[in-house]
Amino acid sequence: MAERPAVPLPPGSTVGVLGTGQLGRMLALAARRSGYRTVTLGDGPSPTPCGQVADREVVAPYDDPVALAAFRAEVDVVTIEFENVPAASLDAGRDGPPARPSARVASTCQNRAREKAFLRDAGVPTVRWADLTEPEDVAAFGFPAVVKTAAFGYDGKGQWRVHGPADVAALPTDVDLVAEELVDLAAECSVIVARGVDGTVVTYPLVENHHTDHILDWSVAPARLPAPVAAAADAHARRIAEAFELVGVLAVELFVTTAGDVVVNELAPRPHNSGHLTIEAAPTSQFDQQLRAACGLPLGATTPFRPAAMANLLGDVWVAAGGEPDWAAALAVPGVTLHLYGKTDPRPGRKMGHLTALADTPDDALARVLAARSALVH
Ligand SMILES: Nc1ncnc2c1ncn2[C@@H]1O[C@H](COP(=O)(O)OP(=O)(O)O)[C@@H](O)[C@H]1O
Ligand SMILES: [Mg+2]
Repeated sequence: MAERPAVPLPPGSTVGVLGTGQLGRMLALAARRSGYRTVTLGDGPSPTPCGQVADREVVAPYDDPVALAAFRAEVDVVTIEFENVPAASLDAGRDGPPARPSARVASTCQNRAREKAFLRDAGVPTVRWADLTEPEDVAAFGFPAVVKTAAFGYDGKGQWRVHGPADVAALPTDVDLVAEELVDLAAECSVIVARGVDGTVVTYPLVENHHTDHILDWSVAPARLPAPVAAAADAHARRIAEAFELVGVLAVELFVTTAGDVVVNELAPRPHNSGHLTIEAAPTSQFDQQLRAACGLPLGATTPFRPAAMANLLGDVWVAAGGEPDWAAALAVPGVTLHLYGKTDPRPGRKMGHLTALADTPDDALARVLAARSALVH
């Protein structure tokens, strides 16, 4: 096998992306701008959001040996835009392209029990939690609890509020579960952290997140939260990146409880919806940063130019508009940028795109982005 190019990978190199969604699309756009090639691999259907932008799209299951072998032969490094890829698909062995992030990081983040055990061992606080051997064990854990599937949860899918014994019957019996204490949330926030091959760690300022129906609705940065909260969140994120010996970008979702605790909720070893505003707001976006980390380049500056806010565009917007949203009305709001992910079927709850707004203050940025989104629907 040909020798792999020495670190750093120069422009012209090929970044392999496992996953084909919007996160891969925005990575591929960043890669193209800097002269890198991308190949994306995933289930399809073609053309996928990432495949529309990548140099090549491979439509195959993540564990298809023939497709994986061809993918590995073509790429210089493998990264992910989706964490639920089999660890074996990421780990190409000593002679294959390096995985950034590593298979170990991805597999830890695929499972809430493994992830929480990792956080405990790293000395990072979480809500009180326990593995459940049987759903009934939640009674011993204590009510009220949030019971979550250990694997494959997203956007609130695979979790149940359990207030008492009567709710236990609703829990599934055929999957691994973890129980968490149901905490009163004062705020939800996130930190995007990146670590380079040289061990340098950078973070972006704290992002404040608002969810509707368990799906991220809008984000604003810098978060309108006290400085000690931002400092604690930043310290947690740095500690996680170090403990993982991460090479890549990782999102840390946090809860700020009404008791004043800043605890980690979950991790995503890739760019995150709450970091999309870095595209406009920061000198190096989270996707540029992922490219740099994957290619062994120095990490870029993260200090934002201006406060920013992001509002997601779910398929519901198209439903409410009764067809095509009024893009001109939204883009008439000053400071607003439109991102669409190339998806053709606007189903309710499906992430179709987002809007970003920059302004002089976080409040103004948020007001602008929400005004722009409202203007889409008459
Ligand atoms: N232990 C908890 N206490 C209170 N609210 C919670 C708890 N766990 C989850 N939530 C709420 O549910 C949302 C989704 O949960 P999360 O664990 O982030 O799963 P997902 O993978 O679906 O994003 C959180 O953003 C938060 O609003
Ligand atoms: Mg979450």
